[in-house]
Amino acid sequence: MKEDTIELLKRIAEAEDSTDPESFRGMAGWRSRDVRLNAATVNKLYMEGYLDDVYESNKYHGYRLSPKARLLLSAEAAADSKQTGQVESVPDRLFEDIVGHEETKELLQACLLAEKPVHVLLDGPPALAKSLFLWDIERAAGGDVLWLVGSGTSKGGLWDRIGDVRPRFVLIDELDKMNASDTAGLLSMMEGGRLVRAKVGREMSVTHEVRVVAAANRADLLSPELRSRFIIRKLRAYSREEYLTVVKGVLVRREGTSPELAEQIATGLDGRTQDVRKAVYAGRLVSQLGVEKAIRFALEGRGGEGV
Ligand SMILES: Nc1ncnc2c1ncn2[C@@H]1O[C@H](COP(=O)(O)OP(=O)(O)OP(=O)(O)O)[C@@H](O)[C@H]1O
Ligand SMILES: [Mg+2]
Repeated sequence: MKEDTIELLKRIAEAEDSTDPESFRGMAGWRSRDVRLNAATVNKLYMEGYLDDVYESNKYHGYRLSPKARLLLSAEAAADSKQTGQVESVPDRLFEDIVGHEETKELLQACLLAEKPVHVLLDGPPALAKSLFLWDIERAAGGDVLWLVGSGTSKGGLWDRIGDVRPRFVLIDELDKMNASDTAGLLSMMEGGRLVRAKVGREMSVTHEVRVVAAANRADLLSPELRSRFIIRKLRAYSREEYLTVVKGVLVRREGTSPELAEQIATGLDGRTQDVRKAVYAGRLVSQLGVEKAIRFALEGRGGEGV
């Protein structure tokens, strides 16, 4: 890694960290002149994946350090600490793209930093940022993960994949849809990490310790022994007030919607749905259809949300 890139990123981090995250600049990012860099340097950092562009209008093009840059900076800071399977340090802004869920963030950060594995299952109805948490953990782990999606068919079996990849983390989305032979495999993997696999006529036994973070809609469908191996963190549907905050945050920070439009969409959906995905869709249609129609189409055919 080139020295000068790290120096630049440190300078930007300093500027970002001294900005109030709730201010316009905190949400819409900084312009090149705010960090005293020329546009070409900013563009180069962007192309290399160190910056996310978070907001763009005719007059304002806002950037923020990407998780990749934050990880690089924290890896720098912890360069001498030894590798024990846990993440050396968790970037301050690890889950910054996720609005709310403060205790879940606290729990996951503690698990990332714990010396020995603590497995966590995020359980709850759709569109509560469960998968987002898994993606952020992948970044914190520097990509050293094995991803499994419960509903996917696993070719060759779970053990072979663990044995081949030797990941620090196993991230499992839709755990409640995983097939029985893979969940049976999980049981021993999560307990001490003993890996036994049949290799042409003989058994091979390897020890490999992993940390599992999983997501499910229906943890109650899992076997008691699998449930026992997780801290099960129950995420509940957003209240109306939380829904407004989450929608505004997601639209501005993740979708690049202007704060004014985000406000209008959130207000238009208030009391009519609790599904954040509907707000995201409305936000994506709004420039073609206008607020009212975008909301109406986004809400079509919904059901079972309890509002
Ligand atoms: N608290 C939140 N912060 C940021 N984005 C959120 C939040 N809650 C929901 N979202 C948004 O909702 C959408 C769905 O999020 P995600 O895919 O993580 O949901 P999920 O909980 O995994 O749902 P499912 O159970 O259906 O898989 C995404 O666009 C995400 O940005
Ligand atoms: Mg999901």
